[in-house]
Amino acid sequence: MSGVVSDSLLARLRTGSLRSDFPIFQTDGRDNGLVYLDSGASAQKPQVVLDAVNDLYANSYANIHRGVYQLSVEATRRYEGARDTVRRFLNARHRKEIIFVRGTTEAINLLSNTIGRDRLGQGDEVLITHMEHHSNIVPWQLLCKSSGATLKVVPINDEGELDMDAMVGLMGSRTKMISVAHVSNALGTINPVKKIVALAHEQGIPVILDGAQAVPHLPVDVQDLDCDFYVFSGHKLYGPTGIGVLYGKAELLERMPPYEGGGDMIESVTFEETTYAPLPARFEAGTPNIAGAVGLGAAIDYVTGIGFETIEAHSAELHRYGNDLLAGIPGLRQIGTAKNKATMFGFVLDGIHPHDVGTFLAEERVAVRTGHHCAQPVMERFQVPATTRASLGIYNTKADLDALVEAIGKLRKFFGK
Ligand code: ALA
Repeated sequence: MSGVVSDSLLARLRTGSLRSDFPIFQTDGRDNGLVYLDSGASAQKPQVVLDAVNDLYANSYANIHRGVYQLSVEATRRYEGARDTVRRFLNARHRKEIIFVRGTTEAINLLSNTIGRDRLGQGDEVLITHMEHHSNIVPWQLLCKSSGATLKVVPINDEGELDMDAMVGLMGSRTKMISVAHVSNALGTINPVKKIVALAHEQGIPVILDGAQAVPHLPVDVQDLDCDFYVFSGHKLYGPTGIGVLYGKAELLERMPPYEGGGDMIESVTFEETTYAPLPARFEAGTPNIAGAVGLGAAIDYVTGIGFETIEAHSAELHRYGNDLLAGIPGLRQIGTAKNKATMFGFVLDGIHPHDVGTFLAEERVAVRTGHHCAQPVMERFQVPATTRASLGIYNTKADLDALVEAIGKLRKFFGK
């Protein structure tokens, strides 16, 4: 990371010239005007990511960790190189603390089935928040059902911010695990996760941070946060689908039982007994997503090459601009108005169902997500059936927000508003 805002790169983001790095925005060598406001669901991929994946398959592909021939050695070097890239990206202490998984969902399921299963029994509690994605609710419910533990939920206020007093009140001797979104996918709220970790550690409670929506927007330093686990998906970070990361402190990962059994995660196998490989292989059973990891490494290099200072400066401009535009639309209510928020706008329009909003906007060639965003409890909290969400990435410009607002204007007219 550069450490300062780069004027030339910021200009590329502002003018949209960065879009030329992404094939999806190009047709016949020109910008095709695609208005993509659904990066919270999945981000588009720069050419460098496609090239890295393609080059691996075209020139250096073989299975990893298994062959002594050149192709396997090279594929292993690239896969393990991607692990080093992720380590630097998160500022983890050791490369063995980086486990490649399919994505955030698999990472949380892995944790609930290993350390979660170990720590939680009858009468124990796992603490989450009212703004969690289903992937940070359902695995814990499953575990509570099988272990007799109880799921506790931290409430949120009308802005979509955590009630920190309630959270402290809910932490106690029964709390054996806390799992919290760093950034809410439905509300955009950036949670005070460093403070949460410190409060939890005062009581010896380990903390998992779901960073799926955070890593595209913010620099993350797991040593500074002091979180026990940090998980994210590659595809929201401009990388391929089917690859994600579980970071865990080595001392905790070392003590966890294995998750999936299979090749590569063992040291020796007999029918009587199996001993397990050291980290990180212990949690990477079977042939992993080699090309996915390599693609993720390229995505991280691309994003850090721009630098989070520049990305954040651009996002802040778009955030202010979007807020001003949306505030000028009669009958529009934003859902999620936290002071500290990532650049995403969830909203409802008086008298128009969000699904009609989504369909109409799609016809206007504006791609947004409508629905419950895999966060039904958030919808219930705000008493709305669904919201429309415009979530931004590094390729968005003010012109995308203008297009959104223009389309909403047409929609309101269509519905006689
Ligand atoms: N979790 C993704 C979203 O928020 C799919 O849209």
